[in-house]
Amino acid sequence: RRRSRRHRASPVQPLRGGCPLSCEVCRGSGPTCSGKLKTCEDGKDACVVLVGESNTKGQHSVNTYKACMKFSDCYSGFVSTTMSPKDYMVSNAHCCQSDGCNRGSIPPPQNNRTENGLQCPACIAPFRETCPGTQAARCVGRETHCIYFAGNVQAGIFNAKFATRGCATESACHTKVGAEVPSASYLYFLRRADCLPAPQPPGRAE
Ligand SMILES: *[C@@H]1O[C@H](CO)[C@@H](O)[C@H](O)[C@H]1NC(C)=O
Repeated sequence: RRRSRRHRASPVQPLRGGCPLSCEVCRGSGPTCSGKLKTCEDGKDACVVLVGESNTKGQHSVNTYKACMKFSDCYSGFVSTTMSPKDYMVSNAHCCQSDGCNRGSIPPPQNNRTENGLQCPACIAPFRETCPGTQAARCVGRETHCIYFAGNVQAGIFNAKFATRGCATESACHTKVGAEVPSASYLYFLRRADCLPAPQPPGRAE
């Protein structure tokens, strides 16, 4: 009985010993950006720096994103996704957990566009919750998995549903439903995050 009374009287547990994390926050074109150090909102316990190279309908861009995010949603390393030869994204990211640790820059991602013989169902469906995957994406470089991601995408104040399928590196499988995941230009809120090994093409089984 005494124990339960003491428990009730205990103060709310502060995060990180009462000090919220602060991270550099910026978004810009090019392989780095710089911005102000900002205090992270509750629940965001990591800083991220991400450099992404993307092609959207054939339009090429390199962008950098620095912000606070949830450590459990943050993946440090290389991710590559390909929906078609004109729609792909490669990124390199670093997550860390001390004040201002995302200052400075990281190496841009390698972009190996050599086809590796694997294929995945592919589609890009803005404003939709599902997408049929009736096209085929040819996987490149280290992309050995097929993804089906859907949810919401945010760019500035613009927020819309999306669904997409294609090839990805195994590292994309770290992304879980409910995660808030940055890319170089957008922020994704995932309601669906399927990730499976790409089927072996006939005659290439090892
Ligand atoms: C690029 O990807 C291809 C296909 O997976 C692979 O054979 C090649 O070694 C890769 N090149 C580099 C530089 O990683």
